[in-house]
Amino acid sequence: MVNFMIKTKLTEMLGCKHPIIQAAMGPFYTTKLCAAVSNAGAFGVVSHTNLRNMDPIKEMEKNILDVVENTDGPFGVNIRTARLQIDYPELIKLIPRIRKENKKVREQLRLVITSAGDPRPGAHHFKDVDPDILVFHVIPAKWLAEKALNPAWFQKKFPGTKGVLDGIIATGYEGGGHNSYEKVATTVLTAEMVEFAGDTPVVSCGGWYDGKGLAGALAMGAVGIQMGTRFIATKECEFHDDYKALILPATDEDTVMTTGAFGPIRLLKNEYSKEHGVAVPDREARMAEEASMTADDLLDEMERYELVYKGDVQKGPILVGQTIGGISTIPTVKEVVDSIVKEAEMRLKAVSKLLS
Ligand SMILES: Cc1cc2nc3c(=O)[nH]c(=O)nc-3n(C[C@H](O)[C@H](O)[C@H](O)COP(=O)(O)O)c2cc1C
Repeated sequence: MVNFMIKTKLTEMLGCKHPIIQAAMGPFYTTKLCAAVSNAGAFGVVSHTNLRNMDPIKEMEKNILDVVENTDGPFGVNIRTARLQIDYPELIKLIPRIRKENKKVREQLRLVITSAGDPRPGAHHFKDVDPDILVFHVIPAKWLAEKALNPAWFQKKFPGTKGVLDGIIATGYEGGGHNSYEKVATTVLTAEMVEFAGDTPVVSCGGWYDGKGLAGALAMGAVGIQMGTRFIATKECEFHDDYKALILPATDEDTVMTTGAFGPIRLLKNEYSKEHGVAVPDREARMAEEASMTADDLLDEMERYELVYKGDVQKGPILVGQTIGGISTIPTVKEVVDSIVKEAEMRLKAVSKLLS
């Protein structure tokens, strides 16, 4: 029986026991994973799933209902608000509607994490229609925080809106999947954001997988951590076993950056990564590339994701972060969460003794 607890502003805001958020990992499903994470006392997140031949709105609704069937704990959802993500305006409308219709969803669905695009449409809609829901946005670089934490920027687009962010998720270059052109490390970005964000809580993300990371992030002033790759390698995660198996022998040098649908992505070196070459250097180059993309190119990309999800781990992108070098087991989600909190508590206590 574990009785350790680390209470922070994050656990208070989200109503979870531990200051750990499970990162969104679309276009794949993290529905079972989300319920397991929330049952373990951390905070699970339903991903924005849009594999081929599916209606992402219906899918999100189904996933949310699935989660409340399998946990009584609090959880969140991710909505990517990227230019190419044409379903996001409808997803934004779905969340207040489903919270209104379903009491259990209203009680448990506490947070929307917007990412990969403009934070304003989401924050505007949620705060004006369903103000109880919290909104965090993923911030990969300081220039975006300078805009996203400025209420005047929201007013410029939506005059009169109550839309603001309740928190930010500072996500650095070490992390898996969707990444940034700016290439700022999580440690640097976290310190910078804690300094810059004032009273707005900062969650640190990208490269964390154990108690050393949680203790370090809290010591830097973050209210908690968010992890993706560590949670893939768990018994409950619904990713294919062959995807998980690739993580165990890999080293921290086995990832590479290429270009995905929304910009740079970090993934495991495989046939797909070789074929895709290095990441596009900046946003302007990517916009030019996007302009020349056809519907067939996008379809091909989605097919590759589907291949991976079904277990073809060479022909599609295996999104993972540099933490694969430190992950060598596939435990249960509860074992992961408990060991992280226990180790963080021990390290924080040891560090506090240095003061006497
Ligand atoms: C398989 C995978 C899929 C991802 N998909 C998304 C996504 O749909 N939306 C998003 O905001 N971030 C996405 N990310 C990024 C994660 O939310 C998070 O930033 C990252 O996993 C953190 O780094 P870590 O893997 O080192 O913990 C994805 C990451 C992975 C590994």
